[in-house]
Amino acid sequence: SVTMAEEAKKRAGYAAVDNHVQNNHVVGVGSGSTIVYAVDRLAERVRQEKLNIVCVPTSFQARQLILQRGLTLSDLDRHPELDVAIDGADEVDSALTLIKGGGGCLTQEKIVAGCAKHFIVIADFRKDSKSLGQQWKKGVPIEVIPMAYVPVTRTIVRRFGGEVALRMAISKAGPVVTDNSNFLLDWKFEKAYNWKEVNTAIKMIPGVVETGLFVGMAERVYFGMEDGSV
Ligand code: A5P
Repeated sequence: SVTMAEEAKKRAGYAAVDNHVQNNHVVGVGSGSTIVYAVDRLAERVRQEKLNIVCVPTSFQARQLILQRGLTLSDLDRHPELDVAIDGADEVDSALTLIKGGGGCLTQEKIVAGCAKHFIVIADFRKDSKSLGQQWKKGVPIEVIPMAYVPVTRTIVRRFGGEVALRMAISKAGPVVTDNSNFLLDWKFEKAYNWKEVNTAIKMIPGVVETGLFVGMAERVYFGMEDGSV
């Protein structure tokens, strides 16, 4: 049920903050619905333990969340080295390869995660997968420069098969525009790939800004489970 998933997200978020955030840390704050619980816990710990914590956001949403919870906002100009980054995921396979970008924030999320000594993922049981595509059915999000979306779409379909869709806005006519003023493609793939190779190959297509494949980045994933465990 939805309530169980929310409980699971909360427990995962709390566990990650309790196990990986310490005084004087610079913390990367991910995007999505699960990270909200982690930030709640972070704000609670900062108040209770009087911690000195600086937060680097991965999106407009994360920035707002940091400010709303009264945490200290920073950026990669001032803090290019993070102690830990915490973020959600759309799907996690058994090798801890992730699909991210359901919320469209993949590029900044990957940049921030790449600047962190430890990249910790938090998710509910629905994201736990043996092989990518078994849980998340919308495909791999890919951020593209707007004028390149048609050639990038054609190149991906020609080289890898499957289907590519331009992500459309829901409450406005036209495409979703990312925090970086780009478009998003969602690539529905049809089989299992070597994700490291596919990620590199897609990233090399002119016009691709970033892919939602996070390969070899996550150090640990906290899954909130249906039975209440993490
Ligand atoms: C944002 O673009 C995504 O990468 C999110 O991190 C991911 O979709 C997880 O979101 P939820 O925590 O809402 O599932």
